[in-house]
Amino acid sequence: MKVVRTIAELDLPRHGVVGLVPTMGALHAGHTALFRAARPQCDVLVGSVFVNPAQFSDGADLSAYPRDPEGDLVHAAAEGIDVLFAPSVEEMYPPGFATWVDPAGAAKGLESDHRPQHFRGVATVCLKLLNIVRPQIAWFGRKDAQQVAVVKQLVRDLNLDVEIRVVETVRDGDGLALSSRNALLSPGEREQALAIPRALATRDAAQAREVLAAARLEPDYVEVADLDGPTLAIAARVGSVRLIDNVLLPKGEHS
Ligand code: PAF
Repeated sequence: MKVVRTIAELDLPRHGVVGLVPTMGALHAGHTALFRAARPQCDVLVGSVFVNPAQFSDGADLSAYPRDPEGDLVHAAAEGIDVLFAPSVEEMYPPGFATWVDPAGAAKGLESDHRPQHFRGVATVCLKLLNIVRPQIAWFGRKDAQQVAVVKQLVRDLNLDVEIRVVETVRDGDGLALSSRNALLSPGEREQALAIPRALATRDAAQAREVLAAARLEPDYVEVADLDGPTLAIAARVGSVRLIDNVLLPKGEHS
């Protein structure tokens, strides 16, 4: 596996299928599922690790975000990644950087009501990564369902020549969706967080709110939205850790 830290060094072959799995590192089994979906489909598989400051609404959240650069190298190499692109913030946002992608549509509501600049940061960095790596296929996790809808909209609206593939959410044995942020939960908070998958299992927004309230969780939102299909989506803070999760509802099963 080649580790590349600058765009200039990223000398990818232009034949065969180039695939991209963009990540923010602290790689876990959710990322493994993305790499394993991608690996057999690609001649050259690029994984990116970049904690994108532009998608964090506050500095404390950015500095608390889990980082594990050494572990990421071991994990990515074990999954047969060919190139790990891990640029610095200066490489991605050099002095003078002043152009942003400002998505509306799928980016409106849910996350944007609580993290106003979040999808501007996500769309901008995704467009940059897609332009830098120029993959034919890129893989994203369904756990970030609104992000998937925003990225698909970005590809459609800006005529990007890439196919977006979506991989199902990976859950721990207790039902909690895998997230790098889970590492920040205390054992008690983790127990409390299990109310989120329990709430989703009701498949009903009103019942989900009750399950969360019984666990003393105050959600940012519990809503059914069209995110690549009708989806019950939840964001809730457990202690200082903000978790999101969702379940796709069979068509017609709305509330
Ligand atoms: O889902 C993530 O890890 C990030 O939002 C992404 C897609 C890598 C963009 O920074």
